[in-house]
Amino acid sequence: MVSRTIPVDPFDLVIFGGTGDLARRKILPSLYRRHVGGQMPAEARIIGAARGEMTDEDFRAFTREAIEEFLPETKRDTVTLDEFLAKLRYVRVDAVGQDGWSDLRDLVRPGVIRAFYFSVAPSLFGALAERLHEHGIADAESRIVVEKPFGKNLKTARDLNAVLAEHFSEQQIYRIDHYLGKETVQNLMAVRFANILFEPLWKTEYIDHVQITVAETVGVNGRGAYYDKSGAMRDMVQNHMMQLLCLIAMEPPYHFDPDAVRDEKLKVIRALEPVAPEDIVRGQYRAGGGRPGYLEDAENPESRTESYIALKVGIANWRWKGTPFYLRTGKRLKARTSEIAITFRQPPHSIFDHPEGWRENVLVIRLQPNEGMNMMVMIKEPGPGGMRLAQVPLDMSFAEALGEEGADIPDAYERLIMDVIRGNQTLFMRGDEVEAAWAWADPIIEGWEARGDRPHSYEPGTSGPEDALMLLHRDGRRWREIRE
Ligand code: BG6
Repeated sequence: MVSRTIPVDPFDLVIFGGTGDLARRKILPSLYRRHVGGQMPAEARIIGAARGEMTDEDFRAFTREAIEEFLPETKRDTVTLDEFLAKLRYVRVDAVGQDGWSDLRDLVRPGVIRAFYFSVAPSLFGALAERLHEHGIADAESRIVVEKPFGKNLKTARDLNAVLAEHFSEQQIYRIDHYLGKETVQNLMAVRFANILFEPLWKTEYIDHVQITVAETVGVNGRGAYYDKSGAMRDMVQNHMMQLLCLIAMEPPYHFDPDAVRDEKLKVIRALEPVAPEDIVRGQYRAGGGRPGYLEDAENPESRTESYIALKVGIANWRWKGTPFYLRTGKRLKARTSEIAITFRQPPHSIFDHPEGWRENVLVIRLQPNEGMNMMVMIKEPGPGGMRLAQVPLDMSFAEALGEEGADIPDAYERLIMDVIRGNQTLFMRGDEVEAAWAWADPIIEGWEARGDRPHSYEPGTSGPEDALMLLHRDGRRWREIRE
């Protein structure tokens, strides 16, 4: 398979918060990888902007270290790294004051695409948007990129949308949900809408239930202050898992076009049913294996924030009424794995005399690690002795199937940042989508706050709190095992 990389148009990308953690871990290494991939035009310029005093050389040294720390040696080399670093500039700006803005204005070039990455606290979005306009740095073609958390409830999300809308149109705003940049997440759309195979079965008549699991082994160490105000519901469910659910549940859009796709996702979010208290299980990891528990990591011994959540979610529309979507995500679990498992219903009648070995068909889409698909099907158990049935996987690893190209799956940020430059919003969240997701999540969060619910504590390195098992058991189902 031939790798096709189309270089993007010349651009100036200004990263506010250019020396912050996200820039170091993701944005700068991803930009470098796109340079290696041949997608970065010679005229591209990347401008780090932050409050600290730094020269261009300091910023280049900072970026070199970040790339060396976050990319394996096999993904970098001296020549391309030096070429890439030559594209970097640094400017000191004060988001809330006037310092540095005329320097930034002098640095951005006329006639090239200008993109501004707001990798800063949301409380600064308004000030940055205003300065960019006041100083004539942003124009009608400019794009801004914002990260989660996009609000902490419907009200704050609306406020943020309103602040950005004062200076930028919706077509200029790129709200990142990095799950949409993951190769396998995009594959969900390819699998559903480029094959005839699945669509006729993709409905409640044939699908018994769906499980979406995002399990992590890490704790919240180092991010306790942010996380404790957020919790798994706000940190993962309202955004990443909601996007996965939408891609599974949405109707086929008429075209792979930003608004067509986002309109369909929005309809799913609006059709979500309220979640009853008994359909929610929240957990908090205990100390164990020489590692601190959540309460110590969060530095809040009284915390009621969940590091794990499982929910049973219903979608009230013709396609899905009667098919529960079980979502679960948590930290300090037994393995790092994200997958979507679609369990089909039983055949209406068995013609075989020995149906003991019989199990439902399950389509598993593995998002990470080992991206791929797995279809569990029934076959005849080999050997004499009549027609006995056994379940086997029709297993496909994308990396193996695609050879070299599949082995080098790009980071989500590589794809997303280049989409900003290309002006393609398909994989970004629209303002109304984010608001609708909060409108669904708010009453759930307010419910447990009003009831004063405490999360169940769970042993680290397990599948989460035992009560989460009940969520499925009482429906006669069970969770898939969490394993890599
Ligand atoms: C982030 C969350 O958005 O996603 C983190 O804030 C979480 O808490 C992370 O660990 C998971 O992303 P990934 O790409 O590692 O699955």
